[in-house]
Amino acid sequence: MFHLSQGALLIIVAALLSAAPPPDIEQRIGALLARMTLEEKIGQMSQSTSMRTPISDQIKREIRAGRWGSFLNAGSPADRAEAQRIALTESRLGIPLVFGRDVIHGYQTIFPIPLGQSASWDPELVTQAARIAAREGTAEGIHWTFAPMLDVTRDPRWGRIAETLGEDPYLAGVLGAAMIHGFQGASLDDPGSMAACAKHYVGYGASEAGRDYNSTWIPEGLLRDVYLRPFQVARDAGVASVMTAFNALNGVPATGNRFIVRQILRDEWKFDGMVVTDYQAIPEMIQHGYALDARDAALKAMRAGVDMEMVSTTYYDHLKSLVQAGRIEMKSVDAAVRNILRLKFRLGLFDDRVRGPAPVQAPPIALDLARRLATESIVLLKNEGSVLPLAKSIGKVAVIGPLADSPVDQMGTWAMDGHAEDVQTPLGALRRTLGNDRVLYAQGLKNSRDMSRDGFAKARDAARAAEAALMFLGEEQILSGEAHSRAFLDLPGAQEALVDEIAGSGKPVVAVILAGRPLTFHQVASRVNAVLYAWHPGTMGGPAIADLLFGSAVPSGKLTITFPRTVGQVPIYYAHLNTGRPPSLGELGIPMGNPVDPQGYTSKYLDVDFTPEYPFGYGLSYATFEYSGMHVSTPKLRTGGQVAISAEVSNKGNREADEVVQLYVRALVASPSRPVRELKGFRRIHLKPGQRETVKFSITTRDLAFYNERMQLVPEPGKFQVWIAPDSVRGVEGEFTVE
Ligand code: BGC
Repeated sequence: MFHLSQGALLIIVAALLSAAPPPDIEQRIGALLARMTLEEKIGQMSQSTSMRTPISDQIKREIRAGRWGSFLNAGSPADRAEAQRIALTESRLGIPLVFGRDVIHGYQTIFPIPLGQSASWDPELVTQAARIAAREGTAEGIHWTFAPMLDVTRDPRWGRIAETLGEDPYLAGVLGAAMIHGFQGASLDDPGSMAACAKHYVGYGASEAGRDYNSTWIPEGLLRDVYLRPFQVARDAGVASVMTAFNALNGVPATGNRFIVRQILRDEWKFDGMVVTDYQAIPEMIQHGYALDARDAALKAMRAGVDMEMVSTTYYDHLKSLVQAGRIEMKSVDAAVRNILRLKFRLGLFDDRVRGPAPVQAPPIALDLARRLATESIVLLKNEGSVLPLAKSIGKVAVIGPLADSPVDQMGTWAMDGHAEDVQTPLGALRRTLGNDRVLYAQGLKNSRDMSRDGFAKARDAARAAEAALMFLGEEQILSGEAHSRAFLDLPGAQEALVDEIAGSGKPVVAVILAGRPLTFHQVASRVNAVLYAWHPGTMGGPAIADLLFGSAVPSGKLTITFPRTVGQVPIYYAHLNTGRPPSLGELGIPMGNPVDPQGYTSKYLDVDFTPEYPFGYGLSYATFEYSGMHVSTPKLRTGGQVAISAEVSNKGNREADEVVQLYVRALVASPSRPVRELKGFRRIHLKPGQRETVKFSITTRDLAFYNERMQLVPEPGKFQVWIAPDSVRGVEGEFTVE
């Protein structure tokens, strides 16, 4: 499918979803509000995580009294059903609870981490995966997920990069909308639909130094062009809720930030969904040095336009007295409660019979999809001498490494409802593919951080006795995710030494890296024959990897995040500005240990090439694709006009395969200056050997618009370069001018 038109499709679905709510809902909210006490209103604005199994008498009393509007990550399915029964039938007004949970990349069936899913560049599969997660989760009484995460990041040190959809705002927008569409379905009150939540609003991905929760400094133009863009797409896609972030943005905590919540989200974008804070983010404004105490923090969050407080109780403790003291108007409280009740009505929670229990997804469909999405998300980074795919007729293979058989790690961060026993690991899948006798397994290291070389000898023996060694390296689950940032990006533990040991066996070595972020592994890549980057691939990661290793499937994933050569290059991303002194390719300064004159005063490093190890958009295949015949329909277009751009993509190899074709532009002169390339479209195509396809895109001047110095979103006249490309550094090139 053509993804600019896919965008259009999403916008239509969005328009349908975000159309003004039917009047009867607003009337019902109004009637309910008129009957609510201030305490009951504040109860609706409060979300708790304190429900345990069995539900305590105190929580039951509180639900009856209307103390809580929502619970998160709480209780068992039976507890949730019981709590809802109490809320609906025993509380004074019968207002239902909304149960939220972090259903991030699957519920029981775990799909690849979001960063992995993005490497599939396949919005259709991403939608289907979210749909399955919604069906599995709603079957257990979950109504609301805290996904998608739409934080753009350019920093692999940040542990939450695993949860992102990569570094590009356009791609994050398309895939985020695809997820929202999957979670929310055609209608929120479908029993298999879940409300989505666009998070973390906004700028969290730019945390200084990649340290979680750290401050962010983002000029308004960049904020609007890059960091806000996926959220705006999410709003247009009808996302039901938005979560405010932990970080301070330009000195103002996101949760108390009127500019981003009231002005942009509510006034400019007319968002009529619900705004929830992140976990205890209101009282954290005290530590931020932005609020005097809990009461002041509650006041600031209210003034910013935050509807529901997650976990902390500053609203419950202080809103009443703030209203009584005239510091907060009742109409602000009513507006917040309206947003919360609107979500509950849209979800059909007031009419539980409408919603009913959702049917559980038939596991084989879910597992098949998890396998396909994992397969499409895995990126082939190196394939020297076409060592891959391996022949199925191969003799014995050695399977080595801490991540060959590590179900929990393979699921990645945020997989609290996934069961390790459901996970199919690479070791299991390879044993099924080749038979037990042909797989010689030696873990080598107990986990990715293990420093002990005690297991090396056994691993070396396995490699010697085999025809090829498959090494499963990377990072455990706990090395990425929230509050799990790293200052070093190399393979932890003694993994590099293990690779040296095995590479010394003289056998072909394939490294399969499972990780939650881009790692730096230059030395390892140079010692092995092939590298597959598998992220944390989820429940069906094992079969997907086995399919790719043995050619039952062809790699087609492409990177959605730039891989640095060393952590010292971070932040490194493809859509950077050119500088006044751009370096030339191959330009290096003073190679350390071998002093020579620097080659000029350009924007580079003395000790490492300035280019990335692997660029954005990059990924190899078992087929060979050639790009040619760039055609631009018109050399000039007027503002409001459209240009068609096409190129021929041919499969010159002998395998049928998918190729992710990318469209980039560059505005050569603009105010302010624009990036050297910007992604504007993509298509995943399938070509048989010898087959050729004309891949067409169209760009309107609206697609070329950016925020100018006066913060107006306008296309500027001028000359544009355009590429249809296999990645962000190559491609066939054309140009056009906007008049
Ligand atoms: C995270 C959110 C998450 C929330 C609820 C927070 O710590 O930042 O992403 O949705 O917890 O679990």
